[in-house]
Amino acid sequence: MATTMRAWTFSRRGSPSDILFPAFPPEAAHTEEWILLKVAFAGLNVGAIFQTTLIPAFLRSKTCVPEMDLSGIVQDVWHPHAENNNKGQDVNTNTGVHTQTRFRKGGKVMAMFPASHTLPTGTGTLAEYIAIPARFAVHKPASVPLADAAGCLLTGMTAHQLVVESGIRPGHRVLVNAASGGIGTMVVQMARRVVGPEGLVVGICSGRNARMVKGLGADKVIDYTQHQHPHTNNNNNLPAHLASLFHAHPFDAIIDTLGHQSLYLGSPDYLVSSGTYSSVGIKPPDFSIPNFLRAVCQMKLNEWWRVSRLLGGAGRLWRGVSMMEPSLEDRQRIADMLGQGHVRVVRDSVWRFEDVREAYARLGGLHASGKVLVRVDESVGDDEC
Ligand SMILES: NC(=O)c1ccc[n+]([C@@H]2O[C@H](COP(=O)([O-])OP(=O)(O)OC[C@H]3O[C@@H](n4cnc5c(N)ncnc54)[C@H](OP(=O)(O)O)[C@@H]3O)[C@@H](O)[C@H]2O)c1
Repeated sequence: MATTMRAWTFSRRGSPSDILFPAFPPEAAHTEEWILLKVAFAGLNVGAIFQTTLIPAFLRSKTCVPEMDLSGIVQDVWHPHAENNNKGQDVNTNTGVHTQTRFRKGGKVMAMFPASHTLPTGTGTLAEYIAIPARFAVHKPASVPLADAAGCLLTGMTAHQLVVESGIRPGHRVLVNAASGGIGTMVVQMARRVVGPEGLVVGICSGRNARMVKGLGADKVIDYTQHQHPHTNNNNNLPAHLASLFHAHPFDAIIDTLGHQSLYLGSPDYLVSSGTYSSVGIKPPDFSIPNFLRAVCQMKLNEWWRVSRLLGGAGRLWRGVSMMEPSLEDRQRIADMLGQGHVRVVRDSVWRFEDVREAYARLGGLHASGKVLVRVDESVGDDEC
């Protein structure tokens, strides 16, 4: 297969010489650097399931490729001011502008693009070739496998923001809910580095993942499956167990990577009064629109009435984290952490491109241990860097 496809496109009426543009670079590349990538791996995210189930057709491109995390190899680079693209060097244009493209052909990258780009353009990472604005991508650290690079930007950036919002410092005690998931595995590693050896990191996960979570830096693990309601399978009995263990010596912060309202409502019994409950949101019981809207309303109530128990709040500060429009610096921070070995990606599973539906069934069960990954380029090995 050819590595690039050449074509001319038009999007408005006019004579061909005025309105025709090369299909790549796209018209938008007249204002900033764009890159064409051959995708190696795509990382799946629960957010993509919300997008397919909740976003009405009129709010997105008619046909959409899902997903926002990838690793891949640069096939082409285009920059509006660069005469000599693909060199990654300063170039002098007719206008006298000196421009350096950030990327060059053959470079290995990791990228994450936001819903504000994927939905209107229909661009997603479950595709063999993809053209994106270069600002969504960073260079992949040389030592990091392409598979891991595809599974860490959205989860890593969300985890970092959760840790920042939690306000933890060296010596603090922190509780991490859903510590074995894509975000949770990152939070445990980051929180460990922040609180240091004198601090305490406690993870909540199922017993089968206890060893893995301790291996990431948790001092102690609580198996939520031992404290679920016998009929509803929710975690409603967990707060009482946490109170019995930590009431005398409560946590300084709680980081909830799944969004359990019962854990928040019970938190005065195991979170210091000045402590922050930072959360990815509120977990709806399923992916339906009414339950999603209820969850959004609950998030707002948590934010507004968080401190007043008289108004139905829990009496603890609740902070929701959103990774809607991360910056290039946010992406680079996670790439650096990965390259320096400060965090590593836990792989739940790697799926073939033709088995994507099964991969989503695994992810949608919300019991993945780390990241669910898809090998888009069959020729790339699991540990190939
Ligand atoms: N706010 C944002 O910007 C943002 C960004 C990304 C994701 N998110 C949201 O964050 C959530 C988590 O994402 P993720 O990628 O980490 O998901 P994930 O990889 O699917 O992980 C889910 C984890 O939840 C655990 N879990 C399931 N039931 C549990 C329970 N009753 N109690 C405690 N843990 C339980 C599972 O652990 P076991 O296997 O051990 O049961 C699993 O490891 C999703 O809802 C996603 O939509 C929000």
